Amino acid sequence: MTPDLTGKVALVTGAGGGLGLEMAGALARAGARVLLHGRDVAKLEPAVAGLAGEGLAASAFVADLDDEEGLADAIARLAEACGRIDILVNNAGARDRRPLGELDRASVRALLETNLVAPFDLVRLVTPHMPAGGRIINITSIAGPIARAGDAAYTAAKGGLEALTRALAAELGPQGITVNAVAPGYFATEANRAMVADEGVAGHLARRTSLGRWGEPSEIAGAVLFLASAQAPYVTGQVIAVDGGYLAHF
Ligand SMILES: NC(=O)c1ccc[n+]([C@@H]2O[C@H](COP(=O)([O-])OP(=O)(O)OC[C@H]3O[C@@H](n4cnc5c(N)ncnc54)[C@H](OP(=O)(O)O)[C@@H]3O)[C@@H](O)[C@H]2O)c1
Repeated sequence: MTPDLTGKVALVTGAGGGLGLEMAGALARAGARVLLHGRDVAKLEPAVAGLAGEGLAASAFVADLDDEEGLADAIARLAEACGRIDILVNNAGARDRRPLGELDRASVRALLETNLVAPFDLVRLVTPHMPAGGRIINITSIAGPIARAGDAAYTAAKGGLEALTRALAAELGPQGITVNAVAPGYFATEANRAMVADEGVAGHLARRTSLGRWGEPSEIAGAVLFLASAQAPYVTGQVIAVDGGYLAHF
């Protein structure tokens, strides 16, 4: 059954490209009015125009997630303009792959701020405008439950976001709001271009995933659509890995 999100308003953070744009496009094609968030209006405009060109309801929402006051003001204005926000996808995320000795306290704080504190803040700001039946979907990573060297700050942030997903599910359940996470594995996005060109990484994925390959960006959208849809009213506090079998395979 194709999910029908007609009448729903969805906010997707970090939606100017990559996985965020895939998710925003899928939600819009299911009928939702989609707000594509980003920091850079020049990056958002072509993304919005692309969806609008398909006849979909899409508009831009510009805000820096690290700017606490600016974000609160922007969400208040957005909620007033839209009346409600039914679906929040916390997709925006930064990377800082460096060994422990190179990561000072300020760098760790900065990464936690964007990848963990900002989603927390967005949930706090958006839920007063989210009716019962609302859906929150946090985009974590396979670097939530497992780890590799040289990525400690990101791993801590994504592990925290996974735990936050469960905590928020418990807290928001009585309001009829579900909170789940989608954990991508290795996706061939623009942000991973150098890794996609690396034959060593391709070999690693051939051995380490059940499907033996990179994920295509469009392959992230189905799990998000499901969690946002009427097909998932009783699913909450869960993490769905979309990883070609990476977490299941050795
Ligand atoms: N691709 C993968 O293989 C993979 C694997 C596991 C998890 N993930 C997660 O999936 C999500 C999307 O990944 P992606 O590959 O599509 O990455 P991406 O293309 O780099 O997208 C990340 C988005 O987050 C936004 N962002 C970062 N810091 C921000 C801030 N302070 N304020 C506002 N926006 C901010 C970026 O905006 P700008 O364009 O303005 O920089 C960008 O739109 C991320 O949370 C990532 O951790 C991805």
